[in-house]
Amino acid sequence: MTLVDDVKARSDIVQVISQYADLDTRSRTPKAPCPFHSERTASFVVFPDTGTWRCFGACSTGGDVISFVMRKENLQFGEALRQLAEQAGIEYRRSERSGDADLLYRANEVAAAYFSALLNSPEGAEMRAYLEGRGIDADAAKRRGFGMSPSGIETLAGHLKARGIGAGPAKAAGLVRQGQDGGWNDMFRGRLTIEIRDRRGNLSGFGARSMDGSDPKYLNSPRSSIFDKSGLLYGLNWAADGISASGIVVVVEGYMDAITAHEAGFDNTVASMGTAITAEQVGLVRGLANEVILALDSDVAGQMATRNSLETVWGAIQSQRRTSAGAGATSSSLAIRVATFESGKDPDEVIRGDPTGEAWRKSLAGAKPLLDYLLETAAGTYDLTTPDGKARAAGELRPLINTVPNQYEQEGYMTRLAGLLGVSLEQLRVSAPRTGYRRRPPGALDREPPDSIDAVASALNPDSINAPEDYLLAVVLQKPELREYAMGAAEEQFRDPVNRVVFTMLKDSATLEGAAISGEGDVAEKIERLRGKMLPPTDQKEMVDAISDCVQRLHQRHIRTIKAEENRLMPTDGKALPDDPQQAAALAQRLVQTNDRLQHFFARRS
Ligand code: UTP
Ligand code: MN
Repeated sequence: MTLVDDVKARSDIVQVISQYADLDTRSRTPKAPCPFHSERTASFVVFPDTGTWRCFGACSTGGDVISFVMRKENLQFGEALRQLAEQAGIEYRRSERSGDADLLYRANEVAAAYFSALLNSPEGAEMRAYLEGRGIDADAAKRRGFGMSPSGIETLAGHLKARGIGAGPAKAAGLVRQGQDGGWNDMFRGRLTIEIRDRRGNLSGFGARSMDGSDPKYLNSPRSSIFDKSGLLYGLNWAADGISASGIVVVVEGYMDAITAHEAGFDNTVASMGTAITAEQVGLVRGLANEVILALDSDVAGQMATRNSLETVWGAIQSQRRTSAGAGATSSSLAIRVATFESGKDPDEVIRGDPTGEAWRKSLAGAKPLLDYLLETAAGTYDLTTPDGKARAAGELRPLINTVPNQYEQEGYMTRLAGLLGVSLEQLRVSAPRTGYRRRPPGALDREPPDSIDAVASALNPDSINAPEDYLLAVVLQKPELREYAMGAAEEQFRDPVNRVVFTMLKDSATLEGAAISGEGDVAEKIERLRGKMLPPTDQKEMVDAISDCVQRLHQRHIRTIKAEENRLMPTDGKALPDDPQQAAALAQRLVQTNDRLQHFFARRS
């Protein structure tokens, strides 16, 4: 039995979840208002006999005890596993091979001390001068976690070895990688290193800037069990207090921008690290701030990440609005404003360009509400000279405008949009709103006839669940060129928790190399097994079909699971529906919806 099986078997899911939700345990399927969003009705259900949970309300997600703790405590897989193991009184063994989180953090700390010492040694003179030139003196360099990775014959790999850090943790933390000759090579050579800590101050990884203009400009630690760029906001460990005190979080793009801001005393600043902001990142500051100011670079590359960020931040905030409105609250939402600077400048330059801080304060004070910003830049975003461009602009902006709570403001935005498009307000109102993106329908379909309840039951049998999951992951690991075909599956559709983590890694890591070295314990073992799994000799076309088939099966199984869960919510005492008319109506509606989805699904297959 693996640790994961053990933890799942010995954790009492009802008891674990009761720590976070007020479960009504009178029923064989305990219910509560969902702990992941606020609501009055109890749409969150625990299924003790399968060890699973699902929210049938706004979040409509589900999972097992491990994914529950991951989400609720905002933990990585390994951390959640350990917490549950401790609670269930299971000894958490440390894997000798790659180590658990503590070993990885330790490896990083040893590396950080080494990088810092090197920066302060004679060898670091040039880099220290570079930092001085950017306003970072020796004290600031220490405060902000700068260092230097070696470039000569000395290596971090050698130092780690001398300090008793095993190759497993060093590799898992992404500090070294195995070379062709089997030896260990440093990941960062001759770079300016920047410590990346999580909000609690744990050293998750490094960003390392090249000094000679070589690409990439920043090499970052690969994704690992302790480092995930999309789940971190750089600088949040310094900024949390400043954010709570001001109620405002300022999001910049770069490490250097955040560092300069903090050095200048703007202590509510975090960096998104150059990529589009994720919902997870929004979640990190949600409880602290009521206003987000996005301080965006003016370059074009910045603009793409920016647009994606705007969509995410908006989406995350809207979902919060909906749920808080459901609970009777209306005014707790985050406001988003966008600050821009004169072309060619980034926040670092704006802040250092004016030591009084006035220029930066002015930029922030002049930040525009998101909708104003979007309307002002619409002419650059859409081609407003063509009917198609206009339709796109209307389709994307109107839904945003519709969410403005104040009616007069909403009216004002509509008038402005109509003006931009060159149509009358009435025309804009009656034009059919365009729906958003459609997901590409999954590829090849399997040819099984529609299944009966028996098939539903067998799909729920834990022994038969893993074949399509394993196949899918094994193919992706062994045939990286087919990766994209497998990405039609969704994380939640994987029922095996380790498979789920492997899939998420494969999905998120830019390189399979990154995924392969970042697994710990059970995950690393599983990856190795999948790599070694024999795949039947088939040509590429057959493999693509088989992948599509597996994706489809997972999809189908997922809908069936939900269906089966819904059926189990029906009372067993002969009554058709629950007593509470509101609950009865909600359940009836859900059953109809799931039936629709199933029917739709099977209709496409015939
Ligand atoms: P910038 O190029 O604006 O970096 O990229 P910066 O922090 O302002 O650095 P300086 O001022 O040139 O020294 C913004 C952020 O995008 C990420 C980093 O997080 C960086 O801080 N990035 C950028 C990478 O991860 N890799 C890259 O190659 C470039
Ligand atoms: Mn910069």
